[in-house]
Amino acid sequence: MNDLRDKYLTAIAGARDEAALEDLRVQAVGKKGEISLQMRELGRMTPEERQVAGPLLNALKDEINSALAARKAALSDAALDERLRSEWLDVTLPARPRRTGTIHPVSQVTEEVTAIFADMGFAVAEGPQIESDWYNFDALNIPGHHPARAEMDTFYTHRATGDERPPHVLRTHTSPVQIRAMQAQGAPLRVIAPGRVYRADYDQTHTPMFHQVEGLAIDRDISMANLKWVLEEFVKAFFEVDNVDLRFRASHFPFTEPSAEVDIRCSWEGGTLKVGEGDDWLEILGSGMVHPHVLKAGNIDPNEWQGFAFGMGIDRIAMLKYGIPDLRAFFDSDLRWLRHYGFTALDVPTLHGGLSR
Ligand code: DAH
Repeated sequence: MNDLRDKYLTAIAGARDEAALEDLRVQAVGKKGEISLQMRELGRMTPEERQVAGPLLNALKDEINSALAARKAALSDAALDERLRSEWLDVTLPARPRRTGTIHPVSQVTEEVTAIFADMGFAVAEGPQIESDWYNFDALNIPGHHPARAEMDTFYTHRATGDERPPHVLRTHTSPVQIRAMQAQGAPLRVIAPGRVYRADYDQTHTPMFHQVEGLAIDRDISMANLKWVLEEFVKAFFEVDNVDLRFRASHFPFTEPSAEVDIRCSWEGGTLKVGEGDDWLEILGSGMVHPHVLKAGNIDPNEWQGFAFGMGIDRIAMLKYGIPDLRAFFDSDLRWLRHYGFTALDVPTLHGGLSR
């Protein structure tokens, strides 16, 4: 028995891996292992012999089993130590440069516009892109027969047949948000509404989906003078110039009376656009004093309240500010274009930190 013990304890202590340990286990205490065979001999012994040999064999079996377990634990500790030694990572190394996404100019400019108007006390309002034709047209003083409905190249959700519910439209402008904001918040009111709009039109300066920002200010004594100041402040802040000339050109929109289109002074000298100097004028928005019919549609009493509104193309002012020549490329998802014209995610536009640094 002492020989058996020495033989197996030495072998177990020298086993190199778990497979070797398993072989030893089978040889010693497996079903047909040496110690198991010895135990079977107990049956043939006299009771006296058995009383001596039985406990000794059992003790030997236990001793071998615990030597196996101890060696197994030691081997796996050593394996873990080896892994910890070889599979390490220096987390203090600098990060590898990785291609990151960019902020689309439309998103960037929307943020810029929002920051500027927020500073003047305008909140952001929203409305649905699939709009009823009442909100998109009627409420804005554009009745069914009005030519503006045809001019806007409206997308309808389905053809109107018989007495069916009137079709919805993809909103052709952000102006319906004026009505929704008036209904939801009442007067006084100061909101801008940036968002997507849709018209069936496609060429270098038109895409079927584009972006506008609507502005609306309602109070007891708001006048064209307030409109002019707000737009001048906006243009100076947006184009990051100290002085701009704005030209208010009499115009017509069904939802404003009087109405004005606004141009900014610019020059195209040397083929590049400069805002604020030169002898050219560039139209950037439509505006006016909100028509009494429109106030009424928004449940606001035109005898008590008045205000101004304006609507501006976001993509258009983005092209002007950042010198982007073709509108269609805005929506091509071309990675080269996005990397060239895109902005870093961390350049959040603020008035104090700079709009487009
Ligand atoms: N909704 C007009 C358009 O899409 C733009 C516009 C003009 C909006 C005058 C206004 C406004 O709020 O007062 O062409």
